[in-house]
Amino acid sequence: MVTELNRNELSYPPPSGVIGAARKGLQGVNRYATAREIAELKSALSGYCGIAEEFIFVTSGVEILLGQLIQLFARKGGIVIIDPTFFIIARVAESLKTGLRKVRLMRPSLDLPMEPLIAEARDAALVVIDSPNNPTGRLLLDRESTRKICESTKGILLVDESYCEFAGFSVIDMVKNYSNLIVTRTMSKAFGLAGLKVGYMAAAEDVLRDLSSLEVALRPTTPSAYATVAALKDIEYMKNNAALVGKERERVSRAASAMGVEVYPSSTNFLLMRTSQTNAARKLKDLEVIVFDPSNQFSSQFIRVSIGTPDENNIFLSALEKVLAME
Ligand SMILES: Cc1ncc(COP(=O)(O)O)c(C=O)c1O
Repeated sequence: MVTELNRNELSYPPPSGVIGAARKGLQGVNRYATAREIAELKSALSGYCGIAEEFIFVTSGVEILLGQLIQLFARKGGIVIIDPTFFIIARVAESLKTGLRKVRLMRPSLDLPMEPLIAEARDAALVVIDSPNNPTGRLLLDRESTRKICESTKGILLVDESYCEFAGFSVIDMVKNYSNLIVTRTMSKAFGLAGLKVGYMAAAEDVLRDLSSLEVALRPTTPSAYATVAALKDIEYMKNNAALVGKERERVSRAASAMGVEVYPSSTNFLLMRTSQTNAARKLKDLEVIVFDPSNQFSSQFIRVSIGTPDENNIFLSALEKVLAME
């Protein structure tokens, strides 16, 4: 049987109340989600994030939203992204004709180099930072660095916090003070609703106005909206899962380190590792363990592995041991 640990999903199913709510949403599925249903979704997200509903925009997943935001701001000027970053961000930014600047994370720490970033950000229309970062797992921004970037750029700072629940840290409340800050988040990771694709962003009303023509096109589906509202009523369930993932992440990290693998510190549900083997991801795939292959960002000795259930993690660790023993 194949073990898939390549997409940073949660390996635990949502609680039955959430499945029940999605099923209820299916009853009216001949219709598009109504304005009232979307308003309820926004109100639930507003309560969860501690941000007024007027600052929230909901979408069918963060991926599509990131693409739209990058395209929108690329019309206004240059884009700055970090390297490495979530591949969708890199792919959309690279596909546009606008000036694109990449700020490379420092080696070997993989921290954000603040001074070069600030220098590039100054005249940019948009600066995009995923924090925690994919594929490194590192939290790149704190409140102070977020403030500094917002105050030094004439454009917008977009922080993708899709893994924030695992990190236990967020700058989302700062959108109240910085009209050039956008924070995106998803229900796909810690809440375990990847298959329903619900994302959202928080930003000042001026920024949201720019997106208003897309609101209907990007709207989540009715079952997704119902499930999200139900999931946000059971924050404890999400927190327990995030804690379980954190515990397992430390166990996997220790076990891989004991095998001589270099494991990078992570605030997410995945780990970046440097093994002694070239083509490490392909060798694991031959043993039916699928991990993400970040060889276009690092060398082929690197892998990015999602944290699964204890059983899935044990399967990964024993496959890793076999790969490391190869000639
Ligand atoms: C940094 C980052 N942002 C966003 C997403 C995708 O979010 P969604 O499922 O809401 O499109 C991912 C998924 O892997 C991710 O790694």
